[in-house]
Amino acid sequence: MNHTNTNPTAELLLDGARYSLPILIGSEGERTIDIRQLLDTTGYTVLDNGFKNSASCTSRITYLDGNKGILRYRGYAIEDLAENCTFVEVAYLLLHDELPNQKELDDFRTLLADFALLHEDMIHFFDHFPASAAPMSILSVMVNSLVNFYPEMSNNPCENIDIIACRLISKIRAIAAFSYKMSIGEPLIYPRHDLTYVGNFLNMMFDRPVRPYTVQPEVERALNKLLILHADHEQNCSTSAVRLVGSSGGSLYTSISAGINALAGPLHGGANEAVIHMLEDIHADNNDYMKYINKAKDKNDPFRLSGFGHRVYRTYDPRGTIIREACDEILKTLDLQDPLLEIAKNLEEIVLNDSHFVKRNLYPNVDFYSGIIYRALGIPTTMFTVMFALGRLPGWIAQWKEMHEDKSTKIYRPRQLYIGSTYRPFIPMEERG
Ligand code: CMC
Repeated sequence: MNHTNTNPTAELLLDGARYSLPILIGSEGERTIDIRQLLDTTGYTVLDNGFKNSASCTSRITYLDGNKGILRYRGYAIEDLAENCTFVEVAYLLLHDELPNQKELDDFRTLLADFALLHEDMIHFFDHFPASAAPMSILSVMVNSLVNFYPEMSNNPCENIDIIACRLISKIRAIAAFSYKMSIGEPLIYPRHDLTYVGNFLNMMFDRPVRPYTVQPEVERALNKLLILHADHEQNCSTSAVRLVGSSGGSLYTSISAGINALAGPLHGGANEAVIHMLEDIHADNNDYMKYINKAKDKNDPFRLSGFGHRVYRTYDPRGTIIREACDEILKTLDLQDPLLEIAKNLEEIVLNDSHFVKRNLYPNVDFYSGIIYRALGIPTTMFTVMFALGRLPGWIAQWKEMHEDKSTKIYRPRQLYIGSTYRPFIPMEERG
């Protein structure tokens, strides 16, 4: 099915010459001007800081309408997937463009179970990180190292995508849980065959020889939902990093490792951790919301309200809406109170009614409420962005696969507008002032 056509054109008048640029129309009616021949035909490049206006590829994976607050994976509404699927089903959907039937799902699960162990030699790596090491940096190092343990995956990666994807999706879970256990000095808990993907993760995180852990279905459901909501988000910063490294011929592991590093930044996935610190600060400041609101408005202060704003959404982030409801649900189910939830709701209320933020279309994003759920599940703040990475992994793999299968893929190599010195003659050392 080809969703693009090239009927309409845009006319460009440059230096007295007229150029006709094709307009491509996506399957949801989105329009983009095709400038792929622009440099060759006109000698001009375009300047687009942060790629705010540029489509870096065509994609069939995720559709997002930032004005209407719509998010769909492979055509399915995020609300339906979050309500009715497990994370593993959604991972399959992202990779294969179809929801799995029972047999496909069983086979996929078997692969996940078969690949669940981490090579024992890799476990020694954890010993050499300082106790203060950031879990995201450990995650990226460990994922990058997988290429040395499983080099065969570099051959025809897309032909064996289930094997490669399941290996990575399964092992990243062990890396995440083991790094947590090592950080608190507890023995590692290995995956069990009788638990689901998400149930296993919870067990690997919280089971202790002295106090066996029982996976609560509500907790498992909440975590499934969170991971589904994070599973893909078209060409965001980390996904673009994955595609960029992959475009040079980099292996899947290397590309994903780059994505993990991109995700760690506080403007991207790292925002979920930053939100909790911000809410804790407000709490410690006797709920002095205005102090933070004013800082966020101050042009001379780099402070931003973590968990607000988005490059694409100009309305509620649909993921944020689902997570906000899930917060209330899980706290009630677990009979927990979290003062930060009240603070978060109050802050949201203030922001949504303040003309400064209204003018800038600032709404809570996916990271604003997710931390409250992670806290309720017992996941430490330092691990929040790792949780995001766990969720985003199927999306990264699907995007990497799509890029490899797309014949029009080229190495990512943007241009620049040079504004430095023009030619100047070399100055020998003795003549330099
Ligand atoms: N707090 C205060 N002001 C903000 C915020 C915020 N969180 N976000 C944007 N603005 C203002 C910004 O100062 C600018 O104002 P002005 O026009 O007066 O200069 C205007 O809104 C537009 O901001 P921008 O930086 O041009 O927007 P962007 O599309 O480049 O950045 C963003 C998007 C997500 C990086 C930004 O909104 C932000 O820094 N948010 C806080 C961090 C965050 O929550 N990140 C998670 C994003 S969603 C999940 C993910 O990607 O991981």
